[in-house]
Amino acid sequence: TVLTRRNLLKATAAAGLAGFGALTVGKLAGLAAAKPEPLILKTANIEAKLTEADPTKNVLTYGEAGAPPLIRMRKGEPFAARLLNGIDDPTTIHWHGIRVPNKMDGVPFLVQPYVYQGDHFDYAFSPPDAGTFWYHPHCNTLEQMGHGLTGVIVVENPNDPVFDAEVVINLRDWRLGDDGQFIEQFRPRDAAKTGTYGTVRTANWLDQPQYDAPAGGLARLRAAITDVTRIYAFRVDGAEAAVIALDGNPVPQRFAPDALQLGPGQRLELAIRMPDDEGAIVSLRDVRGTKPKILATLRAVGKSLKRDLRDLGQLEANPVAEVDRAAAKRIPLALSATAENVPGDGICGSLGYSFWAINKVPWPGDTPDPTAPLAELKLGQSYIIDMENLTPHSHPIHLHGMSFKVLSSSTRQVQPLVSDTYLIQPDEKVQLGLVADNPGDWLLHCHIIEHQKTGMTSYFRVV
Ligand code: C2O
Ligand code: CU
Repeated sequence: TVLTRRNLLKATAAAGLAGFGALTVGKLAGLAAAKPEPLILKTANIEAKLTEADPTKNVLTYGEAGAPPLIRMRKGEPFAARLLNGIDDPTTIHWHGIRVPNKMDGVPFLVQPYVYQGDHFDYAFSPPDAGTFWYHPHCNTLEQMGHGLTGVIVVENPNDPVFDAEVVINLRDWRLGDDGQFIEQFRPRDAAKTGTYGTVRTANWLDQPQYDAPAGGLARLRAAITDVTRIYAFRVDGAEAAVIALDGNPVPQRFAPDALQLGPGQRLELAIRMPDDEGAIVSLRDVRGTKPKILATLRAVGKSLKRDLRDLGQLEANPVAEVDRAAAKRIPLALSATAENVPGDGICGSLGYSFWAINKVPWPGDTPDPTAPLAELKLGQSYIIDMENLTPHSHPIHLHGMSFKVLSSSTRQVQPLVSDTYLIQPDEKVQLGLVADNPGDWLLHCHIIEHQKTGMTSYFRVV
């Protein structure tokens, strides 16, 4: 399949899903609510045109087309999906950031069995929160996600303010050689540092795609970083823009995305006031590092709608329980590098090294007999996680199943953001508050997948 935007839109439309790209509000309103009959997500191994070279072989997808389907759910309404595994590798689906019941969380051994080739697994839940989320396997993740198995989820809230367009972007890199074919996913010496970067950068599997949005209108841009390694620093050029939500939750105070850093697993939601002039171009850029990159552009079309960013109403907060700071128990959590490398056993994508540890213990791999939980939390109790980064690298630390609130940081002014992923900087100490209100075993790990798979993983048990 040659992956063009047209093919992609056709393929996703045929699957009854909304395609990527700009949707006008009229079309948005016409989307049916998630049906209780399951959405079929069949993993497949395909060829896709990711570079100028030959089509890349062994791209993995959850659909027929290259880029996996964008899934739309509605806050509080039942959603169901059947994972059919069509690839020769066991897999599962994790619904990143969605507070699902534990059995639906997709972590092999901890909460569900492997889904082998030809087998299926049924997922069903009602997403309690509206926002931008994503889905991916939780098995052999460096290979499977590195080869493309990731997709974005939009959970709609009927009470959202009205935008004139919506653009959804899946940001990721590919490790391809000059011939456009996959090369080895990681180098151990990089896994012990920042992780191994891809060689080809894409937005929705394309190089700098362009989407149309009404001139003078308000566009809602949702971006999910599904890359396994890269930390981005976002900036918008050519228009006034405000961050309205991060990691699926509205920000208390809107701000301009002035080199805002977000890591793997995190999601950005922007309100962009499109320029008044027809044809004007707005660009979303990554300005981190020495090679700034245009990720995607928006083109103003039609006569100006003359909207104003300041007229945009607040997004409704998600129903996340408020931590009781006075009664909260403390959980110390130290991220460190290991002094020596203890080889793991390689089950379910452990990479056979242990460069990292949480509270001095490197995760020994996703073995059938995982280590004891980092802590056992009491259902309904408030906790403050005192997380400390003792390494010289940044780590996007992700918690499954529950949202936390960022309370304070030793190195920067923080907003009380509600999130599932915190990008902790070197030498930073941060306090994250949460109410342990979702029973089960919940993974906590760095979302730089090489860090996750070389020790920086653990879990909480909520009983
Ligand atoms: Cu995106 Cu363990 O998760
Ligand atoms: Cu990390």
